[in-house]
Amino acid sequence: MENVKKIRVAFAGVGSNTSSTVQTITQAKECNEETQLPGISYMSICGYELKNIDISCAFDVDENKIGIDVASAIFTQPTSCNKFCEVPLQNVSVVPGPLFDGLDGDLGEKVKAHKKCYENDTDDVVRILKETNTDVLVCNLPTGSRNAVRAYALASVMAGVAFVNATPEIVARDPEIEAKFKAYNVPLLGDDLRSHLGATTLHMALIELMKSRGINVTNTYQLNFGGNMDFYNLASPGRSLSKQNSKKNALFAAGIDASKVSAGPNGYVEYLGDTKICYLHLEGDSVLNSNITIELRLEVQDSPNAAGVIVNAIRLAMVARDRNMAGSIDSVSPYLFKSPRFGKTEQEGLRDFVNFIG
Ligand SMILES: NC(=O)c1ccc[n+]([C@@H]2O[C@H](COP(=O)([O-])OP(=O)(O)OC[C@H]3O[C@@H](n4cnc5c(N)ncnc54)[C@H](O)[C@@H]3O)[C@@H](O)[C@H]2O)c1
Repeated sequence: MENVKKIRVAFAGVGSNTSSTVQTITQAKECNEETQLPGISYMSICGYELKNIDISCAFDVDENKIGIDVASAIFTQPTSCNKFCEVPLQNVSVVPGPLFDGLDGDLGEKVKAHKKCYENDTDDVVRILKETNTDVLVCNLPTGSRNAVRAYALASVMAGVAFVNATPEIVARDPEIEAKFKAYNVPLLGDDLRSHLGATTLHMALIELMKSRGINVTNTYQLNFGGNMDFYNLASPGRSLSKQNSKKNALFAAGIDASKVSAGPNGYVEYLGDTKICYLHLEGDSVLNSNITIELRLEVQDSPNAAGVIVNAIRLAMVARDRNMAGSIDSVSPYLFKSPRFGKTEQEGLRDFVNFIG
């Protein structure tokens, strides 16, 4: 019998991103060999099929999610991800993670932390990752939880588990943390997931298109709002700085001076739920100094848009492990993340990703 290549993945944070990712994997498990799921660019990456990703464990701090099966936790309020399919019991109960700054800002008003989360620390995460034979840990914590994200990253190193940082908190770009991953021979992918076809990707592509026509981009902005917990959290003072910086990093990589560009989360609109709306505006100087203006409105479901990239990142992290690669995986991170260690244009990022998977 052919050797099936399995991946055991853990999630830190069982919110919208994790919900959409688990649902995407569930759909893949239910379809036959030939089915190509919509929006999934690769059903198989270097022999790792989407359907062969299994959940090893999941950490959260929400007292309503802890102790219940991941299959239920992914639909527990205040998570607003839509239900796209029935998810069978995973036989994995959500365990309490260390709290640190996970619920700082307004999130603490919506989510009550389980009492164990005040007692647990990084060692508990290391122990659970090892006990559950986890290969890859995906960090889906709220933006602004700098200390919690770094704690999970260090636990990943100590457990020898590849780390995928979906948040904009600095991990891959921190030379000290990156060096630890290298020293312990553990792969690291990050920072700040790009959506599958989201505001950053579209914004970068339009800037690169204008530049390729010799058009000088003179002004641009990117306004984003939505109604999921990510936007709720980002609306708290002090919680969105890393996200704003991360979006600027991506625009710099596309080739413009983004220091004065407004490209942020711009508000929480509760009734939108997991729907995200983005307004893009670009102005440029074209032939004979004539003006050219682009206005664009993008509407997406935020977390499925993230899941399309997370399922690739999980498999690429596993391939990097197999190849004995360590530290930041710079060849694929620019294609998958907004703020990799070394930013690249869309074209360069895609080329390097395709070369990596061969
Ligand atoms: N399209 C997208 O949705 C997208 C794209 C790029 C990046 N991101 C980033 O991904 C991250 C996750 O987004 P989301 O929409 O799933 O957020 P979410 O708010 O829905 O989920 C976060 C979860 O983390 C839990 N949590 C808080 N502190 C914790 C701790 N210390 N340990 C364990 N769990 C903890 C919360 O209880 C919640 O269940 C955010 O940083 C977001 O900015 C999202």
